[in-house]
Amino acid sequence: MSLELNKAFAGILTAGIAFMVTGIIAGQVIHPHVPEHSAIKIGDVAAPAGAAAPAAAPVQLEPIGPLLANANVANGERLAKAQCGSCHTFNEGGRSGVGPNLAGIVGRGHGAVAGFSYSAGLKAHEGPWTYDQLNAWLAKPATYSPGTKMAYSGMSNTQQRADVIAYLRSITPGAPNP
Ligand code: HEC
Repeated sequence: MSLELNKAFAGILTAGIAFMVTGIIAGQVIHPHVPEHSAIKIGDVAAPAGAAAPAAAPVQLEPIGPLLANANVANGERLAKAQCGSCHTFNEGGRSGVGPNLAGIVGRGHGAVAGFSYSAGLKAHEGPWTYDQLNAWLAKPATYSPGTKMAYSGMSNTQQRADVIAYLRSITPGAPNP
């Protein structure tokens, strides 16, 4: 091998070593620090300890019975005619429309109007309608009976529900005491 070639190789080798050393030094001087945790926390805004996920928590309603004593039946009738009347009738023996007739509903079985085509889910509820069940139903029909045919989103105001339920009680001869 000629001297010139040796020199050339030595040059390349030196350049290579210099390149490596630079890389090592650079790697030690600049060490990128990747944080283990993101500084930005999403969905963690002061969640109180033990708070359940909103979606999983069932709506807890206060018992409606005590509110019925002082409920306003006339206001309940007005609300029922305005918000329920497009689908329901309230008179004894009244025809069923989009929804079943509601005369005598308190204490009647779920889905008990003959000839009305209820959703399977509503019919599957056992036992007669209690005041608290009517309360839960009217607050959110789709939560009380998933898949219900009643296209009504719900009445959020507790006093208004008490008034409507008191009205339903008034159109139920021999309705049970709350
Ligand atoms: C858009 C039409 C519609 C509106 C508005 C509506 N309902 Fe209904 N309702 C229905 C239908 C349909 C059913 C049957 C539900 C099923 O089978 O899942 C029903 C069922 C019911 C039942 C159960 C009846 C039974 O025989 O078990 C009650 C109680 C009731 N509705 C009360 C009300 C009240 C009170 C309101 C007003 C606050 C109201 N509904 C508003 C359509 C409606």
